[in-house]
Amino acid sequence: MDHQHTTIAGVLRAGKNRLSGAGAESPGLDAEVLLRHVLNHDRAGLFARLADPIEPAALDEYLALIEERAGGAPVAYLTGEREFMGLPFMVGPGALIPRPETEILVEWALTWLGRRPGAAIVDVGTGSGAIALSLAALLPPDPKWRITAVDLSAAALAIAAQNCARLGLDHRVTLVQGSLLAPIRDPVDLVLANLPYLRPAQIAANPRLAAEPRLALDGGPDGLDLIRLLLRDAPRIVAPGGAIALEIDPGQRHTAGELARDAFPEASIDVLPDLAGLDRHVVIALEPRS
Ligand SMILES: C[S@@+](CC[C@H](N)C(=O)[O-])C[C@H]1O[C@@H](n2cnc3c(N)ncnc32)[C@H](O)[C@@H]1O
Repeated sequence: MDHQHTTIAGVLRAGKNRLSGAGAESPGLDAEVLLRHVLNHDRAGLFARLADPIEPAALDEYLALIEERAGGAPVAYLTGEREFMGLPFMVGPGALIPRPETEILVEWALTWLGRRPGAAIVDVGTGSGAIALSLAALLPPDPKWRITAVDLSAAALAIAAQNCARLGLDHRVTLVQGSLLAPIRDPVDLVLANLPYLRPAQIAANPRLAAEPRLALDGGPDGLDLIRLLLRDAPRIVAPGGAIALEIDPGQRHTAGELARDAFPEASIDVLPDLAGLDRHVVIALEPRS
């Protein structure tokens, strides 16, 4: 591309064409988001400047990002950010990019917690901190909630710690490295977990997952290894009247329901759909102590 005679509109078109040729799913949107990132404009700002020339350095940076995207890098890893529950989360290759369906889990938790001020909450497999930190940001600051976020991955916890600081939540969430509920000693009221739940074949069949950490995706032969272990240990830790809400693959609804029933024979067990109407979250509500 000729550096001297390139308008923002022309560059945007070229970016879209390149991504379209590489088979990207949303080439127009990706090209626009990457250009807005390079030029630091919001949508309105970018479209107001379509006829302006682009600086050579910005053009080089943009074309490099377009090539990385064409090679399969997720847009969120290229911009370093993804919005979740209306909050800007920093993301990087050490942590899963938060998904919109997980917002349903957080919204359910906000409602549940609305009737239980000061509850103790644990987010197992926190990744970027999406669940724990959005709860900390969106719950009323008083009473004092006790929010713990656990992950096995030091790389994910480093990203969660940066998000904690960026969102000003340092004193509101405790980050812990460990496996599942093993680091938790005291009873908690609510366990939330979006653990790895895919089968290896599902991961292999979806090239869009290739850039994300295997540790965040692979749930073993039936995808339920981690959920099975978590449910086995959960009766030790969940207080009477407490609850557990787990994200699952829609195909796991039946088996996950059975695992929940085995672990908590007396509990009420529900499934929440995602925005596509697919069974996405299992909610286990324990009876209060009688
Ligand atoms: C699907 S990602 C979810 C990340 C985040 N909660 C979200 O919703 O965006 C699963 C997370 O579980 C973590 N994980 C995997 N095995 C674990 C284990 N045994 N104990 C704790 N965390 C684990 C991974 O490192 C990853 O961050």
